[in-house]
Amino acid sequence: MSTADLFGGSAANLIDGSDANGRNDVGSRATKLRAQLHHHGHQYYVLDAPTIPDAEYDRLFKELQALEAAHPELLTPDSPTQRVGGKPLDAFAKVTDRLAPMLSIRTETDTEASGAEAFDTRIRKELTLTDTDPLVEYVAELKFDGLAMSLRYENGVLVQASTRGDGETGEDVTQNIRTIGQIPLRLPVHAPAVLEVRGEVYMTRAHFENLNERQRARIAAGEKGEKTFVNPRNAAAGAVRQLDPSIAAQRPLSFFAYSLILPSKSKDGSGTISEKYLDGLIHHDIHTQGKALDKLREWGFPICEHTEVVKGSAGLVAFHQKISQVRDALPFDIDGVVYKVNDIQKEMRLGFVTREPRWAVAHKYPAQEQLTTVQAIEVQVGRTGKLTPVAKLAPVFVGGVTVTNATLHNEDEARRKDVRVGDTVVVRRAGDVIPEVVSVVLEKRPQDAQIFTMLHQCPVCGSPAVREEGEADYRCTGGLFCSAQRKQAILHFAHRRAVEIEDLGDKLVEQLVDAGVVKTLPDLYRLGLTALVTLERMAEKSANNVLVSIEKSKQTTLPRFLFGLGIRHVGEATAKELARHFGKMDAIMDATVDQLLQVADVGPIVAQSLRTFFDQPHNREVVEQLRACGVTWTEGEPTAGASLPLAGQTFVLTGTLPTLSRDEAKDMLEAAGAKVSGSVSKKTHCVVAGSEAGSKLDKAIELGIKVLDEAGLKKLLSVD
Ligand code: IVH
Repeated sequence: MSTADLFGGSAANLIDGSDANGRNDVGSRATKLRAQLHHHGHQYYVLDAPTIPDAEYDRLFKELQALEAAHPELLTPDSPTQRVGGKPLDAFAKVTDRLAPMLSIRTETDTEASGAEAFDTRIRKELTLTDTDPLVEYVAELKFDGLAMSLRYENGVLVQASTRGDGETGEDVTQNIRTIGQIPLRLPVHAPAVLEVRGEVYMTRAHFENLNERQRARIAAGEKGEKTFVNPRNAAAGAVRQLDPSIAAQRPLSFFAYSLILPSKSKDGSGTISEKYLDGLIHHDIHTQGKALDKLREWGFPICEHTEVVKGSAGLVAFHQKISQVRDALPFDIDGVVYKVNDIQKEMRLGFVTREPRWAVAHKYPAQEQLTTVQAIEVQVGRTGKLTPVAKLAPVFVGGVTVTNATLHNEDEARRKDVRVGDTVVVRRAGDVIPEVVSVVLEKRPQDAQIFTMLHQCPVCGSPAVREEGEADYRCTGGLFCSAQRKQAILHFAHRRAVEIEDLGDKLVEQLVDAGVVKTLPDLYRLGLTALVTLERMAEKSANNVLVSIEKSKQTTLPRFLFGLGIRHVGEATAKELARHFGKMDAIMDATVDQLLQVADVGPIVAQSLRTFFDQPHNREVVEQLRACGVTWTEGEPTAGASLPLAGQTFVLTGTLPTLSRDEAKDMLEAAGAKVSGSVSKKTHCVVAGSEAGSKLDKAIELGIKVLDEAGLKKLLSVD
């Protein structure tokens, strides 16, 4: 049965009150639209596998909105149009009538893998199992770091969403929760008449970073009352507790379900916690936590893919270890894993201690936030001259690594957080994100804590630093005169995706610049063996390797060279577009802003940045000298106006191709005008797959995207 079947049919008609005989045309059209939108919403939000284009979804959505506007009597609380957020509230109503209280779980204090063994030992003892009895089965789940939510469904419709509160009494946040696309507003017809789903509302790290990025831009633009959020959990909690649901609707939230509660037989609410929690499952023939999760998945709830049924302590330990290895790569924060006894009968025997089940435990990982002290605040200079205040910290173990530096982003952020030298601060490190100071513990501020003021001068070269109108950052105006920028600029030029000087690492660049041997890019090509071997720790053999790789880099391509110059806002893709459009370096250097604006991907900011760069005689001089030193590339004909065969198409490469390297295939595709992206989405036109292609290929097949092998690719590009 497809999800569309599950959501459609006569029960839907009963719910929206339209003519049960289907004679009411408008009513049945609305019902049909709702069923279609439920189905496609589930494909999109939960399965991440849309089968219709966004525009088609929007069309159906608008049609339903129009019908409901013209016939308000057709509007139902489970209508997908109700996700956009209703009227602001004055306060949240209290919710007291839940099927069972919302509980917490015990935390295993031993954070090592052995904590899992301790839990299994305890469970076996409490179940009076002996060594000869079989292993206990557990469901191992992630412990999501968001906020607990209880969703109540009656006759298949979401009627109430409430926060945990004190466990007994929560707050009614239904309006806000309806805006979360992953939460079904309606369940399939065969779901029980009354049920509660417990789970976690969270924000992904990417959405969190993005939200804070936007908030920082708002603050820089002078918008009042805006602030950045401390962590994804905080941002999610803030969104859920928004009295204005239209604001909540703009905050991208996600959801994972982890428990199902069904009404127990004793309907008067008098039962024990165990009865309230577990009886209903047994009565509905759901005998394991695993089965409950299967049901929830079947009804359309998102269940985390890192959920496993495991056996005995070895199974738990293996799960704990496996997750600790992927933790940084997860798209969301977790603070540990949760183990639950799988068998509900066993859970009933184990029971509850006050507010906590004996059959579950949270096994934590090292925290992603820690306290430490600020020993100094330094200002670092980036490649484009951006000055970043960085807090130097007393070393602290956060999120699995020792952190000694944490960014304060920019002047406004540093001022807003008012971080002072001597302060005790909360440091956060989650995933691959750069460690960050999130807040100051004011109660611990020493009397002599020193206020930080942003430098108005480059700390490295002494040139004036300026902050332009509407910008958040100060920049050193020293350009390549500034040795910090010079080091970064040289490393950028030598980068694998620029002219590629293999043996030129950051230590060597540091030495070369500090010794005054390399002042500009062309100096690299004037290096001799003598200059290199006089550097500390540089033997003749490695010096020779460096010279060979410098020599090799002379033969390059126009896009690589252009990208390597490190012009602000000119990334790899823009460099490629520019090279394709103009064909020749001189044409790019001499192009007017208007001519630059003709290039795909080039907007006013990029065009101005290019013009400013090439208007400076010393930059043109650098280009001339590099050419004089023998750096060459093949110039092409301008293709301005000509349309390339794959223009506007997005390709994804996955797996190992038999003869082409990843970079070669990418270059070929880009030369034909295609964009090469790292992930498959409904916007992808084609996936080129080699051996050992993994999830990207699966996804392409799932989404019905065209898949080519290497031979197919060559045929497409006519390079056979
Ligand atoms: S089960 C009776 N499972 O952890 C068991 N809770 O102290 C009830 N949490 O704030 C909870 N991930 O929101 C359970 N996979 C998971 C969880 C989880 C996160 C949170 C929960 C609550 C706290 C429990």
